[in-house]
Amino acid sequence: MSLGEDSKRDGFSSKFGIICAAAGSAIGLGNIWRFPYIVGENGGGAFLLIYLGFILLLGIPVMLSEFVIGRRGQRNAYGSFKRLSGSKYWPLVGLMGIVAAFTILAFYSTIAGWTLEYVYLALINAFKGLEAKEIGEVFDSFHTSAFRPILWQLVFMVFTAFIIVAGIKKGIEKYTKVLMPFLFLLLLIIVVRSVTLPNAGEGLKFLFSPDFSAITAKTFLEALGQAFFSLSIGMGTLITYGSYVNKKNKLPNISFEVSFTDTLIAILAGVAIFPAVFAFGMAPDEGAGLIFYVLPNIFQQMAGGYIFGLMFFILLSIAALTSSISILEVVVAFMVEELKLPRRKSTILAAMAATFVGLLCTLSFSSLSEVKLFNSTIFETLDFTASNVLLPLGGLMIVIFTGWFMGISNVKNEMSNDGLLKIRLFDAFIFIIRYIAPVAIVLVFLNSVGIL
Ligand code: PHE
Repeated sequence: MSLGEDSKRDGFSSKFGIICAAAGSAIGLGNIWRFPYIVGENGGGAFLLIYLGFILLLGIPVMLSEFVIGRRGQRNAYGSFKRLSGSKYWPLVGLMGIVAAFTILAFYSTIAGWTLEYVYLALINAFKGLEAKEIGEVFDSFHTSAFRPILWQLVFMVFTAFIIVAGIKKGIEKYTKVLMPFLFLLLLIIVVRSVTLPNAGEGLKFLFSPDFSAITAKTFLEALGQAFFSLSIGMGTLITYGSYVNKKNKLPNISFEVSFTDTLIAILAGVAIFPAVFAFGMAPDEGAGLIFYVLPNIFQQMAGGYIFGLMFFILLSIAALTSSISILEVVVAFMVEELKLPRRKSTILAAMAATFVGLLCTLSFSSLSEVKLFNSTIFETLDFTASNVLLPLGGLMIVIFTGWFMGISNVKNEMSNDGLLKIRLFDAFIFIIRYIAPVAIVLVFLNSVGIL
């Protein structure tokens, strides 16, 4: 089952390119929009601890497993399972990833659309002189309207499709390489302003001092879902990207570096947000609007706030874009390789289908806000199902496949570049993906539905 590199396939050209593309996928709205509000709703520091535990114990091993499957399989998520397993059933995991991709892209583009509106608002200096309450009202009236959010969502999907049509080297790699380092720098500047606000200590205390009384079974599921969502794992994004990684690059190192950077950015986003939440007398459990309520206040209070605010929202949109392209690529790679459709046509079809579902998500804040499933809006249902169910389930199948069905020697060869690299902790890795990770994921599930 040793499959050589497929030289006709497009792929990344350098290690730096891979890191930027994979980190570009991982770092996105999940870090800056989703992480702070999920922490806010789940009690702060205690949630953070569980989250970090899941990243180390489950996130990194699942990520590495995805890279191993993709680079060995040299195909999209579906095709890699098909080639490596030779069975009809394993590719269904890839198919589930494609369903997850549509689901995530749909609600992701809603929020990405909001960030584009904020680029516009920052550009025209719309928040100038407004009180915190008025800044909140701007957001409320915007996201509960229909026309503008939809317009921006469409614009965002067009950008996403545009990059994907261009391919891997000339699309994904080219853009992420420039944009990711810039985002990091800007976030650091905002962190400095936020922690020097009056009363900042309270926010930092909320983020870093664990209050275990806030933990319930649901907290664990939320932390698991957030870890998977943030690392872009569990649906084959990194299987797909892994298939574009050169056989000389070191998969274990890439997995560590990407996971570390992703986690660092999420924590920095928390450090930027929570001091401001408390300084401006807001509540940390504002939900999906949290950053849109809070951040414009920080920019108001900082020297050069106009320019920093503008750059920040531009970069946030870009971070969203470098993630959304990785989601669309999962579907497009599948359509190109398995359905034999041309790349351009696949991109347009997939983007249109995702946009259609995406419109329902956007409208679930306005005209469809009363449409509910189990008491949740369309947006909330899709987010919950993808992040907390499909991704962990996909991750479970991915580690089971790698640990039990791929063959340990195949896994070792792929990780060590056919014995050229010394890999440390291989046995520990195998132990984790065979036993610890599957058991942990299943326990979190059973626990959250109340069976345990
Ligand atoms: N990791 C991305 C983020 O944090 C979202 C994402 C999820 C991307 C799943 C790809 C796959 O914003």
